[in-house]
Amino acid sequence: MAQLPDDVALLPGGGRMPLLGFGTWQITGDQAVASTAAALEAGYRHLDTATVYGNEAEVGRALAESGLRREQVFVTTKCPPDRGDDALDTLRRSLDLLGVDHVDLWLIHWSGGDRSDLALWRSFIEARDLSLTRDIGVSNLDARQIDRLAEGSGAKPAVNQIRWSPLLYDAEVVEQHRQRDVVLEGYSALRGGSLDDPVVRRVAEEVGREPAQVLVRWHVQHGIVVIPRSSKPERVRTNADVAGFELSEDQMAALDALGRP
Ligand SMILES: NC(=O)c1ccc[n+]([C@@H]2O[C@H](COP(=O)([O-])OP(=O)(O)OC[C@H]3O[C@@H](n4cnc5c(N)ncnc54)[C@H](OP(=O)(O)O)[C@@H]3O)[C@@H](O)[C@H]2O)c1
Repeated sequence: MAQLPDDVALLPGGGRMPLLGFGTWQITGDQAVASTAAALEAGYRHLDTATVYGNEAEVGRALAESGLRREQVFVTTKCPPDRGDDALDTLRRSLDLLGVDHVDLWLIHWSGGDRSDLALWRSFIEARDLSLTRDIGVSNLDARQIDRLAEGSGAKPAVNQIRWSPLLYDAEVVEQHRQRDVVLEGYSALRGGSLDDPVVRRVAEEVGREPAQVLVRWHVQHGIVVIPRSSKPERVRTNADVAGFELSEDQMAALDALGRP
């Protein structure tokens, strides 16, 4: 029986964001329905999609067919940065496709430049005020860009979703997010060589787990959101089964050290 972590990040809009979510990039069509269904069946209660993934309808179908109540699943989608003029329409289209009346988190997917980000961010604030999304955030922004949004609008992003893994660990980036009270959400935890890294593999052997489980567990112990993706139901389950073991302080430190130049 898989043991999933139940840790959550508390968001300013009242949302409880599970630290473990299911990533859906590059999964489309029937495979998106099947993989998302496998994730919900395995116990994931957090789904990550985006307008540009082209799978919101399929993610929404799996959610509707799961039998779970809407409030049991945390749903994130993202808006491309060039939608400043019709951002709310973009979100309404996402909601239609997902089959929900609001998302839990709406993110600016990547920066379109400071001025365009600020204009789009104002639409994000409006969407939150209209309760079309509970919380709002960004993706692929650095601390300076986050500060400019907050200073220009008076509203701070709740979350920043960035590429993250032990190979990219940077205590300064963690601290920048902590100081601003912005939740750090990592993506592509399993890509970029981390699954094959010798230290990750050694730790996996020590704890008798898969390298992917070590990577997911490392995020959770750091309090960082992690959203592994797999198109294979067995891996979907394995990746989430990380509550039944713990990484020691030494193992965490050895993994953190991979990110240092
Ligand atoms: N905001 C952004 O700009 C951004 C960018 C990239 C990603 N994301 C989000 O983050 C999510 C995760 O990132 P990602 O999709 O780049 O990649 P990922 O989750 O780091 O890795 C996915 C890859 O790992 C493989 N895999 C999964 N579980 C495995 C296991 N237990 N053992 C070995 N291989 C395994 C998958 O192959 P199989 O399918 O064959 O299992 C797939 O090729 C995305 O799906 C998306 O939701 C956001």
